Amino acid sequence: MPATPTLAPAPTLAPKLTIGPITLDVPVVLAPMAGITNTAYRRLCREYGAGLYVSEMITSRALVERTPESMRLIAHHPSETTRSIQLYGVDPKTMAEAVTMLVAEDRADHIDMNFGCPVPKVTRRGGGAALPWKSDLFRSIVEAAVTAAGDIPVTVKMRKGIDDNHLTYLEAARAAEGAGVASIALHARTAGDFYSGQADWSAITKLKETITSVPVLGNGDIWSADDALRMVDETGCDGVVVGRGCLGRPWLFGDLAAAFRHRAGEITDAEATAARAFPPLGQAAEALRRHAELLTEFYDGEERACRDIRKHVAWYFKGYPVGHEVRAALAMVTTLAEMDDLLATLDPTLPYPGIDAEGPRGRAGRPKRPALPDKWLDSRTLDTTGRAELAGAEVEHSGG
Ligand SMILES: Cc1cc2nc3c(=O)[nH]c(=O)nc-3n(C[C@H](O)[C@H](O)[C@H](O)COP(=O)(O)O)c2cc1C
Repeated sequence: MPATPTLAPAPTLAPKLTIGPITLDVPVVLAPMAGITNTAYRRLCREYGAGLYVSEMITSRALVERTPESMRLIAHHPSETTRSIQLYGVDPKTMAEAVTMLVAEDRADHIDMNFGCPVPKVTRRGGGAALPWKSDLFRSIVEAAVTAAGDIPVTVKMRKGIDDNHLTYLEAARAAEGAGVASIALHARTAGDFYSGQADWSAITKLKETITSVPVLGNGDIWSADDALRMVDETGCDGVVVGRGCLGRPWLFGDLAAAFRHRAGEITDAEATAARAFPPLGQAAEALRRHAELLTEFYDGEERACRDIRKHVAWYFKGYPVGHEVRAALAMVTTLAEMDDLLATLDPTLPYPGIDAEGPRGRAGRPKRPALPDKWLDSRTLDTTGRAELAGAEVEHSGG
């Protein structure tokens, strides 16, 4: 009797993303953004979508010193079921102490490490995106974190390198894979690119070809759900990390979830189309108001929340016909009641503006020659001068 052929399960195009013991329903990660991805904003994005929502970066030193600000930044709301914290550090011992503390005090379910900061103040001292150039130091920081974390997954996020002549990502990724990280994310720019031009997704393809035992996440210039699917198709990456594209558009996480679920055959064409967000002005204003309300909880007061929401106003209303006076007045409010009065003057039925509300937003700028410590590029190992510079590299700064 001929053997009955066994049917292989139908392949899904968008498998769930597994980061160590964490399984995400959709392969989407909110990029850590200093000054943005606090618990208020993470909660708001979660209300629209699915995925992993990473904290803004916290320095390992500040955490070990238990500075009040770092303790506040690592706190999660009970609704944040995967508590994800990003750390930045330049010293293996301090990194190990910080991770040990997070684990011992049960403060995190996932720890990401930032090796991508291009800010001159940081790279000038050998930190941020300059650090992986010192391959021994990079490896020992990652090993220290992974060892201290035990069962908690540790991931890394990096840039391509210092500049096009000093790429570090493939070697650093292999070292991180060897050290036991649970995934590797690449912002496909160098420090020298800063936020200019277009992210080089071909580097994500190369990374995916190089790293075979853990997921590779692609990052850079995803402005829509279509961009996210395109990145997966073009590079083969296992998931996407979305930063500036969701500024003032937390509903993008709904679009992303629908797009990936549709692709996996979990929802129909009609459901996917219905899930796509084309918010009229009233809904954009509601999201802004909700953001301010969540910030009020985070800061424990309306005044600081209103001050913080200012930078988001232009992003929420990008492309919408909201007059200069209202925008300027929103930047001056000190209470939620004042904000409500101003938002009440808008016509909530004005439709989604389409293309004008889409595309690039947030940081851009020109390429910059990376600032580095003297003779930093001469050797891939850390010498005494480099060590002295690094002592000042772990400063509070603006992220990645
Ligand atoms: C305001 C801002 C703050 C950022 N802060 C961090 C950070 O704390 N840690 C980090 O790894 N990257 C940080 N980044 C980089 C982003 O995580 C992301 O890699 C980058 O914006 C590229 O992705 P995008 O094109 O989707 O924005 C920051 C970016 C912005 C715009």
